[in-house]
Amino acid sequence: MKKFLFAIGAVLVLGACGGGGDEAPTDEAPAEEAPAEETAGDFDATLARETYEASCISCHGGNLEGGGGPALAGSDYSVEHIIDVIHNGKGSMPPQNVPDEEAENLAKWIAEQ
Ligand code: HEC
Repeated sequence: MKKFLFAIGAVLVLGACGGGGDEAPTDEAPAEEAPAEETAGDFDATLARETYEASCISCHGGNLEGGGGPALAGSDYSVEHIIDVIHNGKGSMPPQNVPDEEAENLAKWIAEQ
């Protein structure tokens, strides 16, 4: 039991420093990806994560919980709206230089979060 609690503590600590723009918490990724790919099917969750980590993580947090920008997890933005915001920015969010296909894939993934 002690070992189990320690493992949870380690995950929380790792998760807490996700906003620093460091490497992704790679241990957690596979567990999150598998179900997402099964249910949605028309986006690549692995690629979306990569795009997110390259372009969005510094402002929207390691788990889409927000930071400099608002939380994206649990929001109900449409895919079209997210693509628009990626390309054109919004308010104090600058436009992001993400290729069309990656932006669409990323937007579908975010909409599912
Ligand atoms: C430089 C920091 C920064 C980066 C990088 C960034 N955002 Fe944002 N984002 C913001 C801020 C700040 C807002 C709030 C804008 C406002 O409403 O004034 C925002 C808002 C949003 C919104 C909500 C728009 C709405 O209608 O309220 C979405 C969706 C979004 N960002 C997606 C992304 C995605 C996807 C990426 C990566 C491709 C990204 N952001 C990268 C700072 C950032």
